[in-house]
Amino acid sequence: MPESQTPTGFAIAIDGPASSGKGTVARLVAKELRYAYIDTGSMYRSVALLARRHGIPWEDEETLAELAESLDFRFSFRDGAFKVVVNGEDLSQPIRTEVVGQGASSVAVQPMVRAALLGVQRGLAQREGVVLDGRDIGTVVLPDAPLKVFMDAKLVVRAQRRHTELIGRGIEKTVSQVQQELAARDHQDSSRATAPLKQAADAVYLDTTALTPETVAWNIVALARERGAIDG
Ligand code: CDP
Repeated sequence: MPESQTPTGFAIAIDGPASSGKGTVARLVAKELRYAYIDTGSMYRSVALLARRHGIPWEDEETLAELAESLDFRFSFRDGAFKVVVNGEDLSQPIRTEVVGQGASSVAVQPMVRAALLGVQRGLAQREGVVLDGRDIGTVVLPDAPLKVFMDAKLVVRAQRRHTELIGRGIEKTVSQVQQELAARDHQDSSRATAPLKQAADAVYLDTTALTPETVAWNIVALARERGAIDG
């Protein structure tokens, strides 16, 4: 990473598979430290959703990369709530469907799409204090981050979490259907050639199977402060 792209403040990189609790924990951490929060998955989800609206197939790498380059992302994080506005439209809710999640994973396989979003993500990390979550934050986006966390949980527990979330949104699916979909997405994310989901060598591994998001978040906040993070 060129010097100009080194984050100026304290950056916390949180990676892990789907429904490992990254987003919930990252928001708690950012709120506690009064840092900015960027959900990088929301960017891949936005590309997938807008591609579908424009009739661009999720496999058409060049056109998807052009689309990704043309997007103006604006993020806000207030009172623990994250919002993403793309080209003036609030996409925070429409990107949360399971179909868009699968689409995000398909567009995220493609190197040109990833390259188009990488600069935006690094630019966003140029702040006093920031928490980014995704799949490749510790390995590719912010390899020099002073604190990297890899969050994981047993597949069956992740499936139950996602199932509860879906039921809360009125979506009827069985836990085993949800489990199959998560396993397929994790496989696609971990086996791709460019920036696969994997733990950075210097990341702290946290298994959240039996832990509440609050417990995990306070652990991360304590680690961050130990490593020199100053509240924002
Ligand atoms: O919320 P959930 O964990 O289900 O997914 P997400 O974080 O919103 O990410 C959706 C998809 O975007 C993932 O399955 C990845 O394929 C992709 N992604 C990525 O490749 N790199 C990132 N830094 C973030 C997300």
